[in-house]
Amino acid sequence: MKTVAILVAAGSGTRAGGSVPKQFAPLAGKPMLKHGFDALTSHPEVDAVYVVIGAGQEEALRAALGDVPFAIGGATRRESVASGLAALGEADRVLIHDAARPFLPRAVIDRLLAALEAHDGAIPGLPVADTLVAASGASVPRDGLVRVQTPQAFRYAGIARAHAAWPGDQEATDDAQMLRALGMDVAIVEGSPMLEKITHPADFAAAEARHGAAMR
Ligand code: C5P
Repeated sequence: MKTVAILVAAGSGTRAGGSVPKQFAPLAGKPMLKHGFDALTSHPEVDAVYVVIGAGQEEALRAALGDVPFAIGGATRRESVASGLAALGEADRVLIHDAARPFLPRAVIDRLLAALEAHDGAIPGLPVADTLVAASGASVPRDGLVRVQTPQAFRYAGIARAHAAWPGDQEATDDAQMLRALGMDVAIVEGSPMLEKITHPADFAAAEARHGAAMR
């Protein structure tokens, strides 16, 4: 069974500040995207990892990871994933992961691939700890809500069909919603606090602290 990962790293990273896009910025001793790349590459069931980068980032990629398979992404995350799917050709299973979630525990990949045996897709999620309210002020019950992370795991045929069928004028913030739009089922497995996304400048220090604590 061939399992391929797509690491999307083609965002502009502007909300994180800095002179280089955040995915190439140093974090806990390596460029941010190398953490996710190494975690995926070293998993025994992952056969190949394709990195999706922005146009003009080829040199930065080579400096960070050496000679690795890559594709050029698009203006949105959805387009970047589609470009990764087109580059990898045929596979049985696909893991799609954000470079902006650098610390990827092996156990999460194990849970996703196990769930994929019985479902069309599998995603990691964590319970919501905060009280939620709508902007109107009405409170929103948090029971039954999860915060969704990546990697997200799919059978190749399903995710390829979902991307092909998705209306080009609509955005999708993750891939699982595209699968559900076609009636396919997506399991939620336990995510990890290590997988928090790095978006703003302050997230770097918080992520380094989490990483340091996990290494002790
Ligand atoms: O912008 P945000 O942090 O939500 O992006 C999530 C992931 O998707 C990041 O790893 C980012 O590099 C990637 N992305 C992409 N192409 C885009 C936008 C985001 O590969 N056009």
